[in-house]
Amino acid sequence: MRTNVRTMTAASPNSPTDIADILAFYASAGVDEALEDAPVNRFAEAAPRPVERAPAAAAPPREDKAPERPAASSGLDASRVPDAPARSSVAAVPDEAQAALARQLATTATTLDQLRQHMAAFDGCNLKATAKNLVFADGNPEAAVMLVGEAPGRDEDIEGLPFVGRSGRLLDRMLAAIGLDRSSVYIANVIPWRPPGNRTPTPHETEICRPFIERQIELVNPKVLVNLGGPSAKTLLNTSEGILRLRGNWRAHTTASGIAIPAMPTLHPAYLLRTPAHKKLAWRDFLEVKARLRALS
Ligand code: URA
Repeated sequence: MRTNVRTMTAASPNSPTDIADILAFYASAGVDEALEDAPVNRFAEAAPRPVERAPAAAAPPREDKAPERPAASSGLDASRVPDAPARSSVAAVPDEAQAALARQLATTATTLDQLRQHMAAFDGCNLKATAKNLVFADGNPEAAVMLVGEAPGRDEDIEGLPFVGRSGRLLDRMLAAIGLDRSSVYIANVIPWRPPGNRTPTPHETEICRPFIERQIELVNPKVLVNLGGPSAKTLLNTSEGILRLRGNWRAHTTASGIAIPAMPTLHPAYLLRTPAHKKLAWRDFLEVKARLRALS
């Protein structure tokens, strides 16, 4: 079970023992996620006031409610991309115009650097409003292998790099087992912004972000793609099959220019941390990848 916590107790802990007791309590209650960086003492808050309802017509447009973001450092104005649909400042809810803009920005990027700039300047995915960083990629863009996960978690959001938390450490060990490391692979995610509280990205958010990861794959042009987990496999292999059926069988990811890249769907490291008995399945999949790379070299 996954539980989030927003609240601290009335008395703030002072000693290391107090803190350890509280953490032990949270752990035994199943709390494994902090929603905010700073604790909130709900006991110190005033009693809630009755909800004030503004007339619907007076409500500001949703965009106005989204937090303001500093101007993109790339200097790229997404609305100036030729023939791009007009954009709103920050979209609270993804919509088709934003998906079209994402496609336009992705297609017009001719290098990975440009793609990163276009993504950093894109405000059409609401996940960006709550994320600390764009998590673009890690590793070697010249690598023969590209791995794609689902979305960044807390550690990745803080560092701006994919797979740097617990599942990342397991992934590093899995890669090492077949003689690879971050200098010989390239790693990215379907979604480049952390969903708040690590919730599952919505289908809308995935559709908005899809053109970016598809273009990223096209620009890296790896010999082999590894889909880490069901969401990556389903999104990039255009299938609704479950990962336990998909894994271990070669598929193909077809790029916009029609190139078919061999793809191996496998189990996500976070799933393997929860289900260690299935590590042997992922091990088989990684051996398949290793054999394929050897055959290709
Ligand atoms: N899980 C993912 O899918 N991606 C990351 O970057 C980290 C955890």
